[in-house]
Amino acid sequence: MLEVKNLNTYYNNVQILWDVSLQIGEGEIVALLGANGAGKTTLLNSLTGLVRPAAGSVAFLGQEITNLPTNEIVELGIAYLPEGGRLFPDMTVQENLELGSYLKNSWKIRNKRLEEVYSIFPRLKERRKQLAKTLSGGERQMLAMGRCLMSGPKMCFFDELSYGLAPKLVKESFAMLKTLRDHGITIFMIEQNVNQSLEIADRAYVLENGRIALEGTSEELLKSDHVRKAYLGL
Ligand SMILES: Nc1ncnc2c1ncn2[C@@H]1O[C@H](COP(=O)(O)OP(=O)(O)OP(=O)(O)O)[C@@H](O)[C@H]1O
Ligand SMILES: [Mg+2]
Repeated sequence: MLEVKNLNTYYNNVQILWDVSLQIGEGEIVALLGANGAGKTTLLNSLTGLVRPAAGSVAFLGQEITNLPTNEIVELGIAYLPEGGRLFPDMTVQENLELGSYLKNSWKIRNKRLEEVYSIFPRLKERRKQLAKTLSGGERQMLAMGRCLMSGPKMCFFDELSYGLAPKLVKESFAMLKTLRDHGITIFMIEQNVNQSLEIADRAYVLENGRIALEGTSEELLKSDHVRKAYLGL
């Protein structure tokens, strides 16, 4: 579904990503793991047109999307939830969701998507008139994911969904990713939380200093000496 080949990205004259290649198949949950500053967010930004890679290519469903503007990439079916979620605290649940839908979409499409999101997360429907800032942590995560779904994506990128969350909420949020996958959405998750990510991902890549250092199924990575020593403290 997504094919990234030899991506190289620089900020000013400093090279951040070095020949990054990866593939994600339809229906997979794939994790990109790495420490602070490894280049994870830079990679997502390079895939979504927010940063221009200097070399390499990105194809989505067989179509070259390298250097397309972000709004066109979103329209092709990729949604991106940035670090921190970015909800509008003083707006209601429903208003937050509506903002996730493109202005150029008709109200008909928007209402259809809203009903889809509410069928995936019935809790959001119950709370649709509540202000986002009064939601529980788990409900906020649902709302952030629901807003991504309003663009009608086939694939979602999540940048550190677990950041700053208590372990119980991390578990709940990751379980929601499985729910999305069960609704046909392919997931690419960027995480520092190696242990819990490998529990739910099918496969993972490890990014170190802007290079893919390791890749494999979650099972393989959990057994890898390098992952155990460097990321799991075992
Ligand atoms: N706009 C920018 N201009 C210059 N350097 C940047 C810019 N954005 C990021 N960097 C640098 O690029 C490197 C990779 O940053 P990036 O945000 O991709 O890391 P990350 O893996 O997402 O880290 P974290 O887990 O802390 O979010 C860092 O050294 C960072 O300081
Ligand atoms: Mg980051």
